[in-house]
Amino acid sequence: MKQRWSRLALAVGAMTISAAASAGPSAAMLSNACSGCHGTHGGSAGPSMPSLASQSKTAIVEAMKKFKSGDRPSSIMGRIAKGYTDEQIELMGDFFAKQKFHATSQMVDAAMVKHGASLQESNCSRCHLDEGKDGKDDTPVMASQWLPYLQMQMDLYQSGARKMPEKMAEKVKPLSKHDLEALLHFYASQK
Ligand code: HEC
Ligand code: HEC
Repeated sequence: MKQRWSRLALAVGAMTISAAASAGPSAAMLSNACSGCHGTHGGSAGPSMPSLASQSKTAIVEAMKKFKSGDRPSSIMGRIAKGYTDEQIELMGDFFAKQKFHATSQMVDAAMVKHGASLQESNCSRCHLDEGKDGKDDTPVMASQWLPYLQMQMDLYQSGARKMPEKMAEKVKPLSKHDLEALLHFYASQK
């Protein structure tokens, strides 16, 4: 028994060494390149940038692949995403998914937040779970994202430049501009 354990320990040790030798930059090192805008631990550094912390790995990886292919319009991410292999994107997705949810304090309109709260349950909560704090599968975390970022993305969806998931479009289309704006105030205020 004892001998088996030590053989296992040797095998594990060898695996660790070969992984370290062949993997290139670690997830944390790769993610450093994102920290100027997305923060060291994925907490957004400014109002036009989303927080990546606690987003699901799938949401981050899917977004990066869409930026890379040009499927999702961007100001800067298209150029950045092209610099990474799929494997590196997976590593960074894993890194940011493990970081703690980032809460922001921002100016929002209290009446709009209230109106948004009354709409989100029946329109958005099926996918944007737990007041937008829980991003599942390909759904991004919405809670505490900066209002200007959310407004920019909603404009891109509305203009057709960014493609909305079909089931989301079904919910968004019947809502007025005022309703949608209220929903964004609501999500921005959640922490
Ligand atoms: C110069 C600033 C900057 C840097 C550096 C940067 N980003 Fe971004 N990121 C943005 C902006 C701005 C957006 C919004 C899309 C756009 O306009 O490009 C964004 C959006 C994203 C999104 C979409 C998130 C969502 O909620 O939909 C992901 C994922 C992302 N970035 C990942 C990364 C990763 C990974 C890195 C590091 C390799 C990185 N970014 C580096 C500015 C930056
Ligand atoms: C059927 C599921 C679903 C429903 C319902 C839904 N969404 Fe989404 N939402 C998603 C997914 C998936 C994404 C990311 C898709 C992509 O890559 O563009 C997203 C992205 C977003 C984004 C961009 C966030 C970012 O970080 O870039 C906004 C804003 C948004 N949704 C608002 C809403 C609002 C407001 C409602 C309710 C009126 C709603 N959604 C209903 C699934 C849904």
